[in-house]
Amino acid sequence: MSSTTDPRGHARPVNGAALADHAHDRSDRVEANARLTAMVGVVLLVLFTAEVVTVILGAKQVLSAHAAIGYLLIPVVLLKMASTSWRMIRYYRRDADYRRHGSPTLFLRVLGPVLMALTLVLLVSGVVTYIGPSWAHPTALLTHQTSFYLWLAALASHVIAHFLETFRLTARDFLPRRGRIASGPWWRRSGVVAGLAAGVALALILSGHASTYLAQYHHHR
Ligand code: HEM
Ligand code: HEM
Repeated sequence: MSSTTDPRGHARPVNGAALADHAHDRSDRVEANARLTAMVGVVLLVLFTAEVVTVILGAKQVLSAHAAIGYLLIPVVLLKMASTSWRMIRYYRRDADYRRHGSPTLFLRVLGPVLMALTLVLLVSGVVTYIGPSWAHPTALLTHQTSFYLWLAALASHVIAHFLETFRLTARDFLPRRGRIASGPWWRRSGVVAGLAAGVALALILSGHASTYLAQYHHHR
């Protein structure tokens, strides 16, 4: 029997079943990318919920927690942006597997970059409000407060649109069923854990600034 080499360098025999397998293997990395995006989405959903709870309690009242959770989620957000940008780049560079998988609907194709931009504005303005120079404080705080409402609306639409898919994709890694194996579940989990670890480090290094902030800006509201 002749043999060929799959993308991971394993030799495999060429026959009907193996060819079907081979085709499945090639789209494996598309599936792996989607699962990473979804798994990071689940973690973000938890972190955003916690962050919105601190907003409901009053960000200034629980400022250490607000800043710590804010810093914690920054690397995880970057991971999400990396995995979705990767899919976008592969698609526009005409990668056959990503092309075959198709693109999201027009609404989601527009919403995705808008959500990314709003998230960046929200996080950067939060950090500048917190540790930036005092001359930038009023503008940064206003930007942070205003972008929050736009961001929340964009995020809610994004989450509603992807809700079922998120749990379906994530469940495949934790409850693998026959025929639905995507390479690298260990790498995906490690990536998410590494993102969280980077966030914890960031939070520990940078969030202990709350008392200085409150002393400096006590006259605001
Ligand atoms: C601010 C945070 C987030 C940003 C910036 C972001 C960004 C994006 C972008 C740009 C896309 C590609 C376009 C699209 O398919 O809509 C995407 C896809 C996706 N997002 Fe998010 N997202 C965020 C949060 C979330 C959350 C909280 C969830 C979980 C509910 C989630 C679940 C998904 C899923 C399942 C996909 C499709 C993955 C695929 O099939 O390739 N995202 N996200
Ligand atoms: C998803 C992430 C975040 C959300 C949803 C969010 C949301 C908000 C909202 C809505 C406010 C206004 C609260 C009010 O006026 O009562 C606020 C205030 C604030 N946030 Fe954030 N924020 C986030 C991330 C961050 C980050 C990463 C930092 C910095 C580490 C930060 C630092 C602050 C500070 C310093 C205030 C001002 C408190 C004050 O003087 O009134 N935030 N945040």
